[in-house]
Amino acid sequence: MKNHHKTYTTNAKFMLHGGDYNPDQWLDHPEILADDIKLMKLAHTNTFSVGIFAWSALEPEEGKYHFEWLDDIFDDIHSIGGKVILATPSGARPAWMSEKYPEVLRVNSSRVKQLHGGRHNHCFTAPVYREKTQEMNRKLAERYGSHPALLMWHISNEYGGECHCDQCQIAFRQWIKNKYQNDLKSLNDAWWGPFWSHTYSDWSQVESPSPIGESMVHGLNLDWRRFVTDQTISFYENEIVPIRELTPEVPITTNFMADTFDLIPFQSLDYSKFAKHVDVVSWDAYPAWHNDWESTANLAMKVGFINDLYRSLKQQPFLLMESTPSLVNWHSVNKAKRPGMHLLSSMQMVAHGSDSVMYFQWRKSRGSSEKFHGAVVDHDNSTNNRVFQEVAQVGKTLENLSDIVGTNRPADVAILYDWESNWALNDAQGFGLDTKRYPQTLQQHYKVFWEKDIPVDVITKEQDFSSYKLLIVPMLYLMSEETILRLKSFVAAGGTLVMTYISGLVNEYDLTYLGGWHKDLQDIFGLKPVETDTYYPKDRNYVEYKGRTYELKDYATILELNTATVKGVYTADFYANTPAVTSHKYEEGKAYYIGGRLEDQFQRDFYEEIMKELALESVSSVKHGEGVSVQVRNAPESDFIFVMNFTEENQVVTFELPVTDKSTGEELLGDVSLEKYEVRIVEKKRTTN
Ligand code: GLA
Ligand code: GLA
Repeated sequence: MKNHHKTYTTNAKFMLHGGDYNPDQWLDHPEILADDIKLMKLAHTNTFSVGIFAWSALEPEEGKYHFEWLDDIFDDIHSIGGKVILATPSGARPAWMSEKYPEVLRVNSSRVKQLHGGRHNHCFTAPVYREKTQEMNRKLAERYGSHPALLMWHISNEYGGECHCDQCQIAFRQWIKNKYQNDLKSLNDAWWGPFWSHTYSDWSQVESPSPIGESMVHGLNLDWRRFVTDQTISFYENEIVPIRELTPEVPITTNFMADTFDLIPFQSLDYSKFAKHVDVVSWDAYPAWHNDWESTANLAMKVGFINDLYRSLKQQPFLLMESTPSLVNWHSVNKAKRPGMHLLSSMQMVAHGSDSVMYFQWRKSRGSSEKFHGAVVDHDNSTNNRVFQEVAQVGKTLENLSDIVGTNRPADVAILYDWESNWALNDAQGFGLDTKRYPQTLQQHYKVFWEKDIPVDVITKEQDFSSYKLLIVPMLYLMSEETILRLKSFVAAGGTLVMTYISGLVNEYDLTYLGGWHKDLQDIFGLKPVETDTYYPKDRNYVEYKGRTYELKDYATILELNTATVKGVYTADFYANTPAVTSHKYEEGKAYYIGGRLEDQFQRDFYEEIMKELALESVSSVKHGEGVSVQVRNAPESDFIFVMNFTEENQVVTFELPVTDKSTGEELLGDVSLEKYEVRIVEKKRTTN
């Protein structure tokens, strides 16, 4: 029996719509600020993230604070029934601070101290920056903590990057001392010290990885990445001390990112750790819609993947904190969303669990680097503007979706994503430099389920596996014995596990397992991978599976069979006719191994059998063709079904059960035509669980 309860992540029982509002750019233009408040209502917006980069407006000189302008903004937004997500301004700081306290400036990995400028460039360790941010945050919490418009806290902005200054070196050495319990021998063992005579005889010799120093000790690199995540979280934890103290009821988030416009999860911080420290996960999504290298549907699939990862981090709704209503300014080509795409792409976020649609930014800047970045209000200040109109349409649509605020949906399928393993794999000097593509490999598996509207959670290695029927673990290069044991119990208890090439090669220190593949993995899969063959870009092999032949590139693993059953074989090279795909019954469950990197069609056919076996079905009763995606959110009594046309053509979809359109109130049954980029949101009363 599924549980369809609600988890409100903020006190708002409505969909948030709005975005980054930077009135500090317009303090000399009171007429603009007055217009903003009027336009906010007309745009059907209700929530604004304020103060993100406002430190120099809040504290123009050390110790001299100016909050009056922010008081007015709070009151004005409140006067139209709006809410404020109040940011702490640590993402950028005033010049006076860098000048007076140069230790706040970052030092890069080549040990070059950065000048003041840009943003997101402070040292995470510097005690003075930690003091200054706490001081500022305390003032903000004291002044606005009980303001009725305050909805939540937005801590800093898009934390990222790293610092290699002396303070950070000291902190890193302390971190490794704790980890290795003050035992230098353990550190040298873990980092494989004797290789190239890299044994340390004193902790003080340890330096963070650097292009002018050490960069090839994989254990060091991995620990450094972990330290960077921990130190970033520690900085964040320091920021929120006064906030938790003064406003314990107000939820806290910080905006996460994706990496590049190609849409893979953000790589350099381990969000599985960070998520434990926030009340709500939020993220900034900027997919390059209408690009010239992939279909709209493929990009939509990738957005779905990250959404399902970030939602699964806390298994609760998340927030879309930033997106653009039209275009950005930092892609290689900054193309506008075509009519309809704004509503469609916004609703896709909601369909996957977002309780908001928020933008960067409310009003286009007049100068500096973001003056041509899309915004709700353009330089023309006009409500007739196409973008403004489309934003208002999103607002109206969201107003009909209050019932699903706080709702999630269950999944029987999970794909495991691991930041640490990705770091270690990318660091591994071996395989193909450009072909590891761990996140993209996961997306390839995810895609099969996305195409069939079967809900997927993208989970991390510490999460509970037991509620899933199918667990997919592609390319999990780094596996601790603990993870291996957890996978083993999952299969033993009746779960179905799928694993691929380049999995389980090293432990949590990035040290290989001796004596071949781990014994427990051999037990689960009934085989042993013995060699991984890496291909040049033009090399191909093929796998024969159930009478069909599938193309293979990049990787092929040669398998030594024990008790596994062969399902597919390689067709060429010195391992022709040897096993490429296997299945194995292990206790109550089943484990499949896919030895090579195969074309999409293989994954479709391979999972089809498993879907049948495990009765994995589409969650909706909507039939459709390729490029249409259907996602569901389960309200307590009904399902909200999002039917989204990610193609450039009309698509006929079939509602097999009667549903009600949320925007028009229309009853729908049977065939309905969806225009290019059209989204229909329908409600279906639930009769059974
Ligand atoms: C060189 C070095 C060896 C080893 C090999 C690897 O020949 O002398 O120590 O690194 O490259 O191919
Ligand atoms: C990021 C930042 C914003 C803005 C946008 C532009 O998400 O957080 O301040 O620069 O990018 O796309």
